[in-house]
Amino acid sequence: MTSPAKVTITGAAGQISYSLLFRIASGQMLGSQQPVELSLLEIPQAMKALEGVAMELNDCAFPLVQKIECHDNAQAAFDGSSYGMLVGARPRGPGMERSELLGANAGIFQQQGKAINEVADDKIKVVVVGNPANTNALVCLKNAPDVPKNQITAMTRLDHNRAKAQVAEKLGISLSEIKQMTIWGNHSTTQYPDLYNSIISGSNGMDHFAQEWYESFFIPKVAKRGAEIIEARGSSSAASAANAAIEHMRDWVKGTEEGDWVSMAVYSEGQYGIEKGIIFSYPVSCRNGEYKIIEGLDVNEFSRKKLKETEIELIEEREAVENI
Ligand code: NAD
Ligand code: LMR
Repeated sequence: MTSPAKVTITGAAGQISYSLLFRIASGQMLGSQQPVELSLLEIPQAMKALEGVAMELNDCAFPLVQKIECHDNAQAAFDGSSYGMLVGARPRGPGMERSELLGANAGIFQQQGKAINEVADDKIKVVVVGNPANTNALVCLKNAPDVPKNQITAMTRLDHNRAKAQVAEKLGISLSEIKQMTIWGNHSTTQYPDLYNSIISGSNGMDHFAQEWYESFFIPKVAKRGAEIIEARGSSSAASAANAAIEHMRDWVKGTEEGDWVSMAVYSEGQYGIEKGIIFSYPVSCRNGEYKIIEGLDVNEFSRKKLKETEIELIEEREAVENI
């Protein structure tokens, strides 16, 4: 019998978690043979709602769930944890940029980074979902100096999936025809969804599109999709974000498809000439529980400009949180 893996989910009474928890519990993230202990973290004011979520989880009688714990204390929630899904943070409202959340949210990741450093399993894998995700992940990483830097990541998988969905819709093809999609940079409007390095129906992605559509429709559509959802729903994406978080962690643990890659925001060691020490979304493949940045891709002049824009924004965000 495989021993249970402890998974800590923060913001567990929030919107995203309401989609996320049940899928983790049913084995969609770590597999149908991996029992789990769910450790749910919330703020004290949300504990009653959290107890309700825990009751519902219990009522599902998921065979893989060995334990459900509710906490309002990060040290207790991360104690011995092998997986951290860092969702809990304030979402933006209409008309706001995600970076405007830094003031409200960065402190959360400072505190949780410290807790992870002190009490989590040495091999913990962390994905930060709470916005602005890249820089929150950096704050978490800086406050967890004993945790190897490649164990703390941020989520750009939702952008990756959005880019694939837009291409499939435009060409009327199946998603399985689209390979090697890349989101570069920040989970923000400066992100760069790159079709130059993609393969669509067996040929180069850009063979299928006019530059005008790429620049004026596709890139802004993907980059501003979060705001479009907020405008339509009145609150930010939840089920699609939970789905992306499941896929991010699943692929990291179980591996990516042979010949394909995914996008993950990870600690930059300077790959592709990007500033070292920011959390930057790259194309990665995963094997044996580790991600590897795909190197040697062609970055043309247009792409280089886009990479620079998003890199500059991340450097500015890093400056804004330097004190924590
Ligand atoms: P929500 O407001 O519904 O839920 C957030 C929950 O976090 C709340 O229940 C709140 O009480 C809790 N929380 C706040 N501070 C906490 C703390 N210190 N510890 C534990 N829990 C805490 O919001 P949501 O819709 O679930 O979104 C959560 C975050 O995810 C937001 O910042 C949102 O912008 C972000 N998001 C990111 C992506 C992405 O692609 N990276 C996608 C969608 C949403
Ligand atoms: C998203 O991309 O849907 C999330 O980051 C939520 C938001 O604020 O856009």
